[in-house]
Amino acid sequence: MKCAVILAGGKGTRMKADCPKVMCNVIFKPMISYVIDAVKDAGVRDICVITGYKHEEVEAYLPEDIKTALQEPQLGTGHAVMQAGEFIRAHSGDEILILNGDGPLMDAETINKAYEYHKSNGNSITVISAIVDDTEGIGHIKRDKNGTLLKIVEHKDATAEEKQIRESNSGCYWFNGADLIYALENITNENAQKEYYLTDSLEILISAGKNAGAYVVENSEVVLGANDRKQLNDLNNIMRRNINTRLMLDGVDIPCTDGVIIGKDVKIGNSTVILPNTIILGNTVIGSGCTIGPNSYLDNAVVGNNVILDNCKILDSEVEDGVDAGPFVKVRANSVLKKGVHIGNFVEVKNSVVGEGSKSAHLTYIGDSDVGRDVNFGCGTVTCNYDGKNKSRCVIGDGAFIGCNTNLVAPVEVGEQAYIAAGSTITDSIPEKALSIARARQVIKESWVDIKKPYKEKK
Ligand code: UD1
Ligand code: CA
Repeated sequence: MKCAVILAGGKGTRMKADCPKVMCNVIFKPMISYVIDAVKDAGVRDICVITGYKHEEVEAYLPEDIKTALQEPQLGTGHAVMQAGEFIRAHSGDEILILNGDGPLMDAETINKAYEYHKSNGNSITVISAIVDDTEGIGHIKRDKNGTLLKIVEHKDATAEEKQIRESNSGCYWFNGADLIYALENITNENAQKEYYLTDSLEILISAGKNAGAYVVENSEVVLGANDRKQLNDLNNIMRRNINTRLMLDGVDIPCTDGVIIGKDVKIGNSTVILPNTIILGNTVIGSGCTIGPNSYLDNAVVGNNVILDNCKILDSEVEDGVDAGPFVKVRANSVLKKGVHIGNFVEVKNSVVGEGSKSAHLTYIGDSDVGRDVNFGCGTVTCNYDGKNKSRCVIGDGAFIGCNTNLVAPVEVGEQAYIAAGSTITDSIPEKALSIARARQVIKESWVDIKKPYKEKK
């Protein structure tokens, strides 16, 4: 059975981050999550992550099926793998994949192709390599003049001549289990950084007469990692472009990608249009024929078909078919906008269900409420759901008509088809089909201005 070791113990000094480097985000997700996904997508299930610097933070993030081994202190990538001794010994008869946790562009296809190459050549070690332009900080793959592999030379240890070598180590390898154990026993720290380099395994296994190979990838981007914020931005740009491209090829219409950032796990149906400055994250699922954006932000939203979200923020909520929302709408956690709902400018919905066909066109707050179907909210309706201590719910029956500038002081129930006069502050529940007026009656004082002359004396 195949297995994998992912290196995530390093601090990542050059990132100047408070978190471990592998927890730095690419498209709003920690780099290590992409590496884990790639490994799992490649069909490798038994995974051990090496943690070290701020290990609690990495461990808390990892899915439950991932094993961990602690590296304390962090003395290099070879030393990191040594900490997984028990895991590796249990897999001594297997092929073991080792990857850097800071290389989020590595993909399942590359991992699997490298595995086939590894097996068909009977290799003890196969390093995944690529030809890159910028070799700063990488390990150079050194070959003899016939192209036969010799060793990996880290940039810091390389001679001026070796620094010219553009074939670089991705930090991703397939090892035969028993041969990996042998290599780990022979790695020393005699180098510029006084670290135990995993990369030395190549030369160690070649010297022991074993087969070694480099699987050179065509798309050199998959081997890129991030050591600092600039490289992190480069990875974000590549990841963003890759995701957008995949969606466009699946029929999503992105006429202009400016400011369009879509998470890797987001699913979008064909013929949906994504307009500029739109960020779609988490496990958001969007149907077909929708127009999302401009300037919208969706996180963990479930959106049906033919929905319009114009300048909307939708968080952890569901928006059913045919909803038309925006501009300037915020839907907060745990809300459902049922079919055909219309929510207009400056409306906020929180922890509420708004029933089919209900309309709230302007300036309204619907919080902690259960709203039936075909309810009409007048402009400026406010559910007063918080008394300073407790949150309470409003229940609004089907077909109710709520006049403009109504306050519904929760808990309160509005019966089906009941009417509320504009400007009412409702504190008592209203029976169905009743009209409720809760405001002072209008008073007219004739010629009041002439009598009182309240402002300034007329000349
Ligand atoms: C490493 C490779 C280099 C390769 C490059 C690709 C070595 C010696 N060098 O260099 O050949 O071109 O990756 O990106 O392996 N880590 C630990 N414990 C440690 C040190 C590192 O767990 O003691 C982890 C880091 O968290 C990181 C990964 O190992 O996820 C790689 O470490 P990093 O320091 O970034 O190695 P590079 O210098 O990039
Ligand atoms: Ca690195």
